[in-house]
Amino acid sequence: MPKIKILDHALAKTYTTVIRDKNTTPELFRANINRLTILLIAEACKNLPLKDVEVETPIAITTGAELCEQIAFVPIIRAGIGMCDAALELMPSAEIFHLGMYRDEETFEPIEYYQKFSPKIPDRAFIIDPMLATGGSADSAIERVKKWGVKDIQMLCIIAAPEGVKLLNKNHPNVPIYTCVLDDHLNENAYIIPGLGDAGDRIFNT
Ligand code: PRP
Ligand code: URA
Repeated sequence: MPKIKILDHALAKTYTTVIRDKNTTPELFRANINRLTILLIAEACKNLPLKDVEVETPIAITTGAELCEQIAFVPIIRAGIGMCDAALELMPSAEIFHLGMYRDEETFEPIEYYQKFSPKIPDRAFIIDPMLATGGSADSAIERVKKWGVKDIQMLCIIAAPEGVKLLNKNHPNVPIYTCVLDDHLNENAYIIPGLGDAGDRIFNT
């Protein structure tokens, strides 16, 4: 049984339909990736630790809440960049650390070409990438973030394939995976079926 949290939300189902459609324009594609990312992050952050803070309304003093962890988002370039605006909209004080990877077209193995981490280690990192296909890119990204020293790591994607979920469950059983939808399988080119095609190309109109 794969361990994965799938968003069960009517709006997520409608936005996913839009991004799957091959006739969706890049502008609309980006807008719906943004909407889905907001729903995904809201779900993944539901139980983040909080501390009490005092807040003064115009008529009274009451107790409010503040996040007590330093949160980072780690987008896997390119497509993960399409999820950054939503992340910063929900968590303006979060840090963004980029990780550049692309899949070799023949072996489907991830090739890393960029990493920008800081000496200061965040308390928690959300790795963001719309597509979890073979899981090779996410597996490698999680390895990097673990090596950096981050203790709490979550993987957020928009569409996941069972193959990728299986790999991450095996190699990183303590890393929860959140997705908007779990698709059927991969084709012979390691594309997700039914999927949406190449996420990076559709976000950046290439
Ligand atoms: C896509 C996607 C993931 C990866 C998923 O990126 O954004 O990073 O493929 O596939 P995997 O689970 O089999 O590793 P891609 O390699 O196409 O690079 P791009 O974002 O630069 O287009
Ligand atoms: N990367 C994508 O962008 N799409 C897929 O279906 C698989 C990997």
